[in-house]
Amino acid sequence: MTHPRRRPAPLRREAVLATVPVAVAALLTAAGPATAAGTAGASGVGDPYFPLAGNGGYHVSHYGLTLGYDPASRHLTGKAVLTARATQRLNRFDLDFKGLKITGLTVDHVKAGYRRDGQELVVTPARPLRKGRSFRVTVTYQGRPGPVTDPDGSLDGWIPTDDGAFVAGEPQGAMTWFPANNHPLDKSSYDITVTVPKGSTAVANGVLLGQRTRNGRTTFHWRQKEPMAAYLATATVGKFQVKQYTTRDGLKVYDAVDPREAAAAAPVLKKLPSVLAWESKLFGPYPYRAAGSIVDHAPNVGYALETQSRPVYDGAPDLSTLVHESAHQWFGDSVSLTSWKDIWLNEGFATYAEWLYAEQHGGDSAQKAFDALYARPATDGLWAFPPGNPGSGANIFGTPVYARGAMTLHVLRTTVGDRVFLRILRAWAEQHRYGHGTTAQFERLAERQSGKDLGRLFQTWLYDQGKPQQP
Ligand code: TRP
Ligand code: ZN
Repeated sequence: MTHPRRRPAPLRREAVLATVPVAVAALLTAAGPATAAGTAGASGVGDPYFPLAGNGGYHVSHYGLTLGYDPASRHLTGKAVLTARATQRLNRFDLDFKGLKITGLTVDHVKAGYRRDGQELVVTPARPLRKGRSFRVTVTYQGRPGPVTDPDGSLDGWIPTDDGAFVAGEPQGAMTWFPANNHPLDKSSYDITVTVPKGSTAVANGVLLGQRTRNGRTTFHWRQKEPMAAYLATATVGKFQVKQYTTRDGLKVYDAVDPREAAAAAPVLKKLPSVLAWESKLFGPYPYRAAGSIVDHAPNVGYALETQSRPVYDGAPDLSTLVHESAHQWFGDSVSLTSWKDIWLNEGFATYAEWLYAEQHGGDSAQKAFDALYARPATDGLWAFPPGNPGSGANIFGTPVYARGAMTLHVLRTTVGDRVFLRILRAWAEQHRYGHGTTAQFERLAERQSGKDLGRLFQTWLYDQGKPQQP
């Protein structure tokens, strides 16, 4: 597979806006204006492409989401309990939450003031929270959720389907169905409990702790223990065929498949255990206890998402898409972005995993995939902007991010050799497991592992405008 086909729309334009480099330290300490009573948490973490994404002043350690959804009326009721810790004194703080009507909001069980300003839900607790203190925010809400439109024109968030909802939040859509610190910089554990009419299934991340039916409604309780970015949460609802099993490696697999996609999906889903085993050999241990696939019938979506532990597909995936979303469990899910401009660390890596898989399973070599792309003329959209600096949120899922991102890894591989290359990938997954990584950190790691100066290579392939000279 030589080019991404997860992205629905063609590249809209040549590059691009300049970006403001933001140090991670600055991201982590983003603070709002000081006041006499304390300080206000910032309305964003400082992401140059999504300035309002996430919030300053606190971290969320756990989300407890209790939802009810009725596919016929498309009505959602929700209760979100966020367990958080203040990283500064806070007289007020923001959550990201768009659309749904709020029916109650407390901080530590005491009614708090709030107002809404676009995607910002500005919360004023009855008394300021001192720095370092843990607190609990409870928000109850309801309404008819819908998706957001991203800068590139695609939809994400709560996307209704004919029998439920396709729920995928990259990059922004988590805030359409729960109040969140909506940036990958903040990772948390989740309990997601969803009640749907009997006969429907609600599938979220992690392990299914319990399921019970009462008065014509079924409740599913899911737990994602390992840290997860909000955009990777799902609660996809539909009429699904469900299959559960445990792999030889002890992974709990839960597959939910729309019957209309079942015949095409079955031979691909069957390979999940062997794909994860192959990737574990290459990248190190699979980061989660749970696995599986959600195959919906959502022809209006146009992409799949690597929802943590259990990717969601808009239709039956082909094998290389399954390999791609599975690779994201290491690269993107376990090792998270600190800033959306580093998106090639997700998409370039997952695409290169497809190339490696093909190469080792009787398909084209990665070199052949590289050559086919490199043969494209300098005017091709592949060279429209550099993957390490896509320039705006409208470009983060563009061809250069996927394809030239993967080409960058291929040039790295041919420069340092197969053994060192794989050592770099494994060390990356291991050293940043459940955490975060930046492009600069990856470059340093590659230089350390190889003992080579790779500055020129990364500059050319990640940052230079236009088609690079033959490596
Ligand atoms: N990360 C997804 C993948 O490559 C793709 C994706 C998620 C996407 N959200 C999107 C593509 C929005 C286009 C628009 O597997
Ligand atoms: Zn991807």
